[in-house]
Formats: sequence, structure tokens, C-alpha cells
Amino acid sequence: MFKVCIISCGMIANSAHIPAYREFSEDYEIAAVCDINAQAAKETAERHGIPNYYTDAEEMLIKESPDVVSVCVPNCFHKQYTLMALRAGANVLCEKPLATTYADAKEMFDEAQRQGKVLMACQSMRFTPDRLAAKRYVDEHGIDDIYYGELARIRRRGIPYWGSFHIGKISCGGAFIDIGVHMLDALVWLMGNPEVESVSGKTMQNHKDELGSLKSSGALTGNVDRIRNFDPDEMDVEDFSAGLINFKNGATVSFKVAWAANCPEASDIRLIGKKAGIYLPECRVYSGTDGEESIVSTELAYDSVFAGHIYLADNLRKVLKGEKAPIVKPEETLNVTRIIELFYRSAELGREVYVNEN
Ligand SMILES: NC(=O)c1ccc[n+]([C@@H]2O[C@H](COP(=O)([O-])OP(=O)(O)OC[C@H]3O[C@@H](n4cnc5c(N)ncnc54)[C@H](O)[C@@H]3O)[C@@H](O)[C@H]2O)c1
Repeated sequence: MFKVCIISCGMIANSAHIPAYREFSEDYEIAAVCDINAQAAKETAERHGIPNYYTDAEEMLIKESPDVVSVCVPNCFHKQYTLMALRAGANVLCEKPLATTYADAKEMFDEAQRQGKVLMACQSMRFTPDRLAAKRYVDEHGIDDIYYGELARIRRRGIPYWGSFHIGKISCGGAFIDIGVHMLDALVWLMGNPEVESVSGKTMQNHKDELGSLKSSGALTGNVDRIRNFDPDEMDVEDFSAGLINFKNGATVSFKVAWAANCPEASDIRLIGKKAGIYLPECRVYSGTDGEESIVSTELAYDSVFAGHIYLADNLRKVLKGEKAPIVKPEETLNVTRIIELFYRSAELGREVYVNEN
């Protein structure tokens, strides 16, 4: 039985992490939760029948000595709590983005290695029917020659307004780092993790006074206990981003990511390779001179809008038992983190930024 502790009791801890561990109650036992907001910690513990709650993560880690810790704090705190949990002897499932600089991500994975523990980024959006089907196709058909890609992740009106996603010093970025990272992770995974060479990107803010529903802004269950007052004047991150990523193998990817935009909603990935092209979410494959086929989208094993977290919790228990390798690999997360860092540096400098620049 793996003893689990959860750091922070916000939307994603309540809606996704706790239910995911509970799906495998034969292997996981949630011992305690923690939040700097005592009310949030108490209510979360009571709601889910978790025996203990804390307001101090370090105290929780010392007293509970968990095998597994979920780090569900806002982005700017991911590194400090991940390092704290690893040093306390726990394996860590850390929410995305694991880190916002390559150096931070590297430090986190190096610490995991030093401690002999597993650290996995919670890239839960690989586990959609179309992306799982595409991955199966790519693996079965040896599609390793993708030279062009596009990704579009667009919400019509979906600025997350229940927490601190819109405040740069806490979230470390806007739409790109929040929802773009999921698409980027899925795309890099499907492309076989080619190494990034340069990024050219733009960030913009156009719709900060226009909010949508909770669900359309990412609280997919519609459940948020504690909605922080949204003040548009506090919003200092992008609601729209676009750009181009060049990889060392010669491949190029163009992207647009928006929390709010006047164009159709999208969660599209398009890949073009010499052997085949793959269009998602339609699950269309184009190969040969005029070949076109539909691949069968994968039926998800779990009936939940946060099914991805269940896949990750399942994978993690198998990793800890020595049965499987981590499904989200450190080298993939390091590459994605590098792209994030280059993207924001490019947007700030107003020019293409290369990975080998100092
Ligand atoms: N994988 C996904 O699909 C997905 C979806 C939503 C959010 N997330 C990620 O989950 C993280 C949290 O998002 P959320 O939606 O739960 O946010 P939230 O605002 O609902 O909750 C954040 C919680 O963190 C607590 N907190 C803040 N600072 C803390 C600190 N120093 N120590 C302990 N607790 C602290 C707050 O009191 C709050 O309860 C973010 O990194 C976000 O990117 C992932």
C-alpha cells in the first residue's frame, strides 16, 4: 500500500488527484492533505474522508512520511514543494508545468535521481481518445519522420478566474503555460521527442474583461469551492500566444494557444511526415499518394473528465512496483520545459531565441 499526501487543496486536487488515487484504493491510501488555507485543507479532508490535514507541508511530510506526494500548488511553488517532498523520501507527481525553466526542471529531476525516487509531470492531456489512438498508430507504423506540425488550442472565452492563473508572479505565464503545455507535451510525445533548436513567439492580451463559464475555463467538473475575486487589473499574462518551434532534426511546428479568441474552439494537432500525416482530433491519417483512412479513436478506460489523472495514478503505482516505466519521461518534460522557456524569452525579446544562446 502506498501512502499518499497531497500538497494544496484547490480545484485540481479535489477534482482530479484525490479521485484518481481513490480509483486504485487497493494500492493507494490517502493519509493527509495540506493547504496554507486551513479552511480549504479541513473541508477537503472532510469531503473525501481523509484522516489528517495540515497547513504546513513540511510538518505533514515529517509526520506522515508518505510514499507518494501530489504537488498541486500554483506553478511558481512547484519546484520548492517537489524538492521538499523528494528530500522527505517521497515519489512525486507534480502538476503541469513541472517548471518554467530548463534549469529548474533539471534540478528537480537531478534531485529525484539522487534520492532514488520517481518524479513525473502531470501531463494528463495525453490521455484523450484521439491522442492515444495517434500514439498507437505512430508506434505501430514506425512514424518517425514528421517534418511539420501545427497545434491549436483555443478557447472562445476561457480565462481561468477561480485562482491565480492570471497573475504572472504566481502562474509564471498565461494561456501558453497553462493549456499550451498540454498540447506541446502531446505533440512532442507523438513526434518522438525531437530536441528543440529555437522558438519564435508572441504573447498578447485582448480579452481580459470577458470571462466565460467555470467549465469553459478549465474547471472541467464545474466544481470549485473557493473562487478568488477576479480583478482584470491584476491580469498581467497573455490570453493569446502564437509562434514557431524549430527542432534540431529539421522539423518545424507552428502553434496558437488562446484562453480567449474570436475563432472556433480548437484542440487540434496536425502532423505531416514522409510516411504519413495525422490530423487530430478527427483521427484522419493521410499516407501514400492518395491514401486517407480513419483511425479508430481509443475508448478511454475511465469515465471522467479528468481521466488523464487516473491513467497517471495507474502508471505511477506500476512504476513503483517495478512493472512499468514512467509514461511521462523526464527527457520529454525537460524538452517541453526548454520550449516554454525559449518561447517566453522570445516573446520578451521580440526575436527568435536559440537553445544554445547564453
Ligand atoms: N492537469 C490539469 O489538467 C490541470 C488542470 C488545472 C490545474 N492544473 C494545475 O494544478 C495547479 C493548481 O491549480 P488549481 O486549479 O488547483 O488552482 P486553485 O487556485 O484551485 O488551487 C490552488 C491551491 O493552492 C493553495 N496554495 C497556494 N499557495 C500555496 C502554498 N504556498 N502552499 C500550499 N498551498 C498553497 C491555495 O490556497 C489553493 O487552495 C496549477 O499548477 C495548475 O497548472 C492542472
